Amino acid sequence: MKKISNSKKKDLKVPRIKNGTVIDHISGGNAVNVLHILGIPGSTQYVVSVAMNVKSELGRKDIVKVENRELHPKEVDKIALIAPKATINIIRDYEVAKKYKVKLGDEITGIVCCSNPTCISNANEPVTSRFKVISRDPPRIKCYYCEREPDDISKRII
Ligand code: CTP
Ligand code: ZN
Repeated sequence: MKKISNSKKKDLKVPRIKNGTVIDHISGGNAVNVLHILGIPGSTQYVVSVAMNVKSELGRKDIVKVENRELHPKEVDKIALIAPKATINIIRDYEVAKKYKVKLGDEITGIVCCSNPTCISNANEPVTSRFKVISRDPPRIKCYYCEREPDDISKRII
């Protein structure tokens, strides 16, 4: 039998992709939330592979690979809210063409809904939700209008 080098063995877990996006270093267990953010499952036709609880230097991590798809900046912000250590790798012709870490700005608008039912952003007013980022890792945000801090951000992502 042909010998396989250790680095190749590692890669057998999730096949490399030709073109698309690899979201790596997702804190263990959050792959499902990332899929949800990307609208998967749904009417998507994209080829997606997921690895959960893979061993890494920083404990367990999840990986999501989406073929032939790049991410919108809003999707990257949403990922930063649930997987602050995630790395986005853009793959072109099997090579990592671009690699960057997700990073929240000082404020986020329109991607999370406030957990306070009486908040002005939840009234029938044309007010876009707006949050101040008070911590990036772990992610913590506070409503700009009512100061409420949602306790489970992943459930509040729009
Ligand atoms: N990857 C892939 N398909 C490719 C190239 C890379 O699925 N054609 C995946 C790798 O499996 C890895 C991620 O993209 O999960 C980043 O690849 P690479 O930069 O080669 O790996 P590392 O050096 O381990 O990345 P990091 O330093 O960010 O941990
Ligand atoms: Zn509010």
